[in-house]
Amino acid sequence: MLSKSRTKIADALRSQARDTEITVMGWVRTKRGNKNVAFIALNDGSTIHNIQIVAEPERFGDELLGRIATGACLRVAGVLVESQGSGQPVEIQAREIEIYGEADPATYPLQKKGHSLEFLREIAYLRPRTNTFGAVLRISHAMAFAIHRYFNDHGFYYLHTPLITASDAEGAGAMFQVTTLDVEKPPRTEEGRVDYSQDFFGKHTSLTVSGQLEGELGALALGQIYTFGPTFRAENSNTPRHLAEFWMIEPEVAFCDLEDDMNLAEDFLKYLIRYALENCADDLAFLEKMYDEELTARLRSVVENDFVRLDYTEGIEILKASGVKFEFPVDWGLDLQSEHERYLVEKHFKKPVILINYPAAIKAFYMKQNEPDAEGRRTVQAMDVLFPRIGEIIGGSVREENYDKLKAKIDAEGMSEEELWWYMDTRRWGSAPHAGFGLGFERLKLFVTGMANVRDVIPFPRTPKNAEF
Ligand code: 4AD
Ligand code: MG
Repeated sequence: MLSKSRTKIADALRSQARDTEITVMGWVRTKRGNKNVAFIALNDGSTIHNIQIVAEPERFGDELLGRIATGACLRVAGVLVESQGSGQPVEIQAREIEIYGEADPATYPLQKKGHSLEFLREIAYLRPRTNTFGAVLRISHAMAFAIHRYFNDHGFYYLHTPLITASDAEGAGAMFQVTTLDVEKPPRTEEGRVDYSQDFFGKHTSLTVSGQLEGELGALALGQIYTFGPTFRAENSNTPRHLAEFWMIEPEVAFCDLEDDMNLAEDFLKYLIRYALENCADDLAFLEKMYDEELTARLRSVVENDFVRLDYTEGIEILKASGVKFEFPVDWGLDLQSEHERYLVEKHFKKPVILINYPAAIKAFYMKQNEPDAEGRRTVQAMDVLFPRIGEIIGGSVREENYDKLKAKIDAEGMSEEELWWYMDTRRWGSAPHAGFGLGFERLKLFVTGMANVRDVIPFPRTPKNAEF
């Protein structure tokens, strides 16, 4: 009886051992051969590479080999030998084959021919079995691990902020409601409005758009924290960069000013990209070959160059002087669209850009207010990191720590202090200068993998009219 203990295919391919018995388990990518020998390419997810199984019909019989097709799951025990063919260091001469699960070629949707990314989205429950999604998902894991490692090594604490919230952190108003009320027949107050005091939490609640406000509470006690969790936005933006459910990493640091915040963002992003280059070489090489021939060159260029740091006001001047006919207008006071961001990064500077000091009117209420400029215009200490191909990858700011200024802003925006009393209290007791930012995890993965659509870097995308799987 041959060993049942499993060797991962990544380890088998790396192994220096020869003529030893091993057992591998995995899914068939392809089977080819003739009446004398069958070659099965087996993949178990531990690497982009397959291991070649050599099986003789004489030993296994045509019936068993006939049941093995693309997608089937096998246990194969055999002898690891130097490969006879080119293209792989080793192969396995099969001694035992057990079929765990067959896959009928007449119905199994993934065949060995390449499929379009659009088609694979429709079968997102199976696409992890493709080379592309195997690579994307392994890189995704590596990035999540590197994020935790970076913060741990830099003395940040991982804080879990709530997903269900009664406040709107970004003031954008595009939130998913959370309720256990009967939406067909909700209880009503005497004035005829929905009576949320009878709802599960006794008030109106939603899924959070950001962990920042609670993150600030943590930073004002632990010094430096980060969050890493799902966030939800009900905005109806059907773009290659927006998801309704995405993951955000939000560091928040006490005693930190705008320059410290920019330094942290730049160092953090470079660390993550360097980590991918050093640890995901096989998967990056595959994605480069298949989708984006400039991928690793672009990643290297970001790691090796200083990011440009630029005032919003100067950015507007550059865009106006560019002579380019943009789809959306450019004027002081207007928010930048991704075409503007990408012009600055890809055409003008050819490097990542950190744009700072945006007009107060287009940014969230919590951002630290600057003194009005020479022309009396009001700006805040915001910072957006703009990347090639992506546009905004990070949004952050220094936070307004002055109670009176924050209160005036909340009143001016018609926000409710009743909702935010606990946030305001931090400015009453032991307030401190502090800053932070949010990195969109899927935007980071878009950049690192070179994929073009954010739906292809998260296993199960949530977008308008789409919550399958
Ligand atoms: O710029 P945003 O809205 O900033 C915040 O939420 C702050 N509370 C962050 C902070 O200062 N702690 O979002 C931060 C980042 C964006 O730069 C972008 O990368 C990503 O989150 N993001 C999205 N990613 C995918 N789909 C969406 N709909 C996204 N909205 C924002
Ligand atoms: Mg933003």
